[in-house]
Amino acid sequence: MNIGVVGGTGYVGITLACLADFGHDVVLVGRTKKKVDLINKGVSPIYELGLEKILKMNVESGKVHATTDYKDIGDADVIFICVGTPSREDGSINLSDIKEASSQVARCLSKEKYHVIVVKSTVVPGTTIHEIKPVLEKHSDKKCGQDFSLCMNPEFLREGVAVEDFLNPDKIVIGCYDDKSYSVVERVYEGFDKKIPRIKTNLTTAEMIKYVQNSFLAVKISFINQMANLSERYDEPVDVYEVAHAIGLDPRIGPHFLRAGIGFGGSCFPKDVRALIAQGKELGYNLTILEEIMRVNEKQPYRVIELIKEVLGDLENKTIAVLGLAFKSDTDDMRESPTIPIIKTLVKDGAKIKAYDPQAEENTKKIFGDSIEYCSSPDECINGADVCLFLTEWKEFKNLNLSKIKCPIVDGKRVLDPNEVKKHGLVYRGIGWKN
Ligand code: UGA
Repeated sequence: MNIGVVGGTGYVGITLACLADFGHDVVLVGRTKKKVDLINKGVSPIYELGLEKILKMNVESGKVHATTDYKDIGDADVIFICVGTPSREDGSINLSDIKEASSQVARCLSKEKYHVIVVKSTVVPGTTIHEIKPVLEKHSDKKCGQDFSLCMNPEFLREGVAVEDFLNPDKIVIGCYDDKSYSVVERVYEGFDKKIPRIKTNLTTAEMIKYVQNSFLAVKISFINQMANLSERYDEPVDVYEVAHAIGLDPRIGPHFLRAGIGFGGSCFPKDVRALIAQGKELGYNLTILEEIMRVNEKQPYRVIELIKEVLGDLENKTIAVLGLAFKSDTDDMRESPTIPIIKTLVKDGAKIKAYDPQAEENTKKIFGDSIEYCSSPDECINGADVCLFLTEWKEFKNLNLSKIKCPIVDGKRVLDPNEVKKHGLVYRGIGWKN
């Protein structure tokens, strides 16, 4: 099939290049010429494991092509819309980019051909039917369900393992306007493992599934973070990771997303939870559980500051080695990273920051500029530090030679095994763990 992807150079859009592995021809439409040119050279504009290999192979064989021109997708059977839906001040999502993209898509539709437009961007329930459909109809002079049709196909991939998640999803959700559009989009995924459940539903339910899933995962994280903070208060040591492991063995709970830490960040959870809260308000229903989840999440990074102060006392002129800047490992993404409020507070309290991250230095510089020092290795970072702060669970930190560390350790994300650290005679403080 011919597949067009609008927002094709962004995190979600670019992974659709993987569809070329299933025999489809993919055209990625992006706004930035620099990114488009990179893709056409087989180079990924974002850091994502395994993506560059797929791009390179499929660009070379002519199955993937990037462009800034919408006209290049005029012949596509299926057009995915993957543009960003940023937050507004009140937490609701800003639909101007997706509406603009939809109008451009509408204008380039071929007069004769039946296209299926698929919304993949994360949009609050009701958006595709009430906001996107009218824009497409108005600017194409076509009628939905007759001359073209519409689906909503949410994406559940995680940054860092996006390619793996895209190729092996736990489900494929296809919200459809009608049966015909469903069968077209089903064909896009025909080559995927037949055992993966296909969920056929309506447009609004598909949108709801995406928000409820992300919100539920956020609930799990804030919940375990509160339990972690409580665990630290008992006389006899309680390790929240041991607790999480035990409760996770109950299949009703499951082992995932129970890693206590510095709170959830990234471009999805905070934004999506806020958007659903805002939509609830608009519809006259207060999502009080989610409101509390966000309050807990906003406070959680500061727990690390308390732990540092327990170890160091006053922070004035102390040197703090910060290992990990990205909102999680295997990405260079700094969006809503909990490391940002932590570093800001430490700087405000007079500490000197030496920071290292295998991928996120460039994006961190956009936030902190020269106010902190950037190191090119963990060794350089920890050298001469008064405390070593672990904030992202990169593999290279887990494998660090502990005998090189000469100062106390504060672990925000249980990167290290506390019992191993203690064997080296080092002071260790960690979220949800007590000496
Ligand atoms: C998340 C979802 O996991 C994806 O399924 C979804 O497609 C994506 O959002 C999206 O909506 O686009 P992502 O933001 O890439 O993916 O990253 P996650 O691995 O979910 O982590 C999110 C945040 O939660 C990170 O800051 C991470 O450190 C934190 N987290 C995660 C914890 O603190 N504890 C955990 O146990 C798990």
